Amino acid sequence: MTPNWKSVEEMLIFLGKSLLSLLESLLFTIIPRPRKNVAGEIVLITGAGGGLGRLLALKFASLGSVLVLWDINEDQNEETCKLVQEAGATRVYAYTCDCSRKEDVYSVASQVKKEVGDVSILINNAGVVTGKSFLNCPDDLMEKSFDVNFKAHLWTYKAFLPAMIANNHGHLVCISSSAGLIGVNKLADYCASKFAACGFAESVLAETVAQKQNGIKTTIVCPFFIKTEMFTGVSTGCPFLLPLLEPEYAVTKIIDAILQEKVYLYMPKFIYIMVFLRSILPLKTALILAEYLGVLNLMDGFIGAKKKE
Ligand SMILES: NC(=O)c1ccc[n+]([C@@H]2O[C@H](COP(=O)([O-])OP(=O)(O)OC[C@H]3O[C@@H](n4cnc5c(N)ncnc54)[C@H](O)[C@@H]3O)[C@@H](O)[C@H]2O)c1
Repeated sequence: MTPNWKSVEEMLIFLGKSLLSLLESLLFTIIPRPRKNVAGEIVLITGAGGGLGRLLALKFASLGSVLVLWDINEDQNEETCKLVQEAGATRVYAYTCDCSRKEDVYSVASQVKKEVGDVSILINNAGVVTGKSFLNCPDDLMEKSFDVNFKAHLWTYKAFLPAMIANNHGHLVCISSSAGLIGVNKLADYCASKFAACGFAESVLAETVAQKQNGIKTTIVCPFFIKTEMFTGVSTGCPFLLPLLEPEYAVTKIIDAILQEKVYLYMPKFIYIMVFLRSILPLKTALILAEYLGVLNLMDGFIGAKKKE
């Protein structure tokens, strides 16, 4: 029987490419990846009225980007706009937009396209949390979690991805959560919406790869708790491995990941180990570990953000 040379050749190419990509990854764990220039890029940040969104806006302003700020809370968003201008940004546009409403997203998006131009970096950051055990979650709040934390991403992609594809240039950033990787007690609706956001971002990434749209980049961010208002009152049972993150630190890491075009950013690093252990350990052992790390009681002191609308 003659050997099938085509499949031997394909196998060698596959092995060679795999080895090269592994070496590349290894190299970039030793030396930092080159950072891209985002001066002049049109960066849209949802949920820019506070927390991470505001800090992200300030960082992009210092990098010379044009900023488009969306938030449901007009006063808070205007405040961010003012701070960003004071930080030296010359082109900043603030829009009031309820990202949970598809019609709002589409109409504000077309206003942005007319008044500012094609968005080239889209950061889906707006988020809400209910923070109750599942049977105590009111239906409307659970729906809101999905509308803001996940469905808004569908509408913003629909609005801005076509121009990115046409220009073969763009970056889609999904601010999900470590709760989008591992289920957490008292965060059922939040976790489900964040899992959905991760799955959606990863699937569109696969689509862009399959269609060879190599100018479109994706970054999926999955942080543990950050000391913003959103999760006021939460605690960690293991501050050494799972510290509550400082917002400045989290945002510096997010900016680094975007500029270096990293696909996944989990923080702190122990989240990578938790995801790995969860997939290989027997459930009983994983739960013993979760209990030891206090993961089942993270939400016990949860208060959440004060209502500002
Ligand atoms: N804080 C954390 O511990 C933590 C951890 C992991 C992931 N995250 C995620 O990071 C993102 C930012 O969180 P944060 O900590 O800065 O929260 P935050 O509450 O400080 O800010 C969220 C912003 O989103 C805005 N927003 C809420 N609903 C909106 C809507 N319908 N339309 C438009 N804007 C809306 C709010 O007005 C607010 O300005 C969220 O997606 C959150 O789920 C936060």
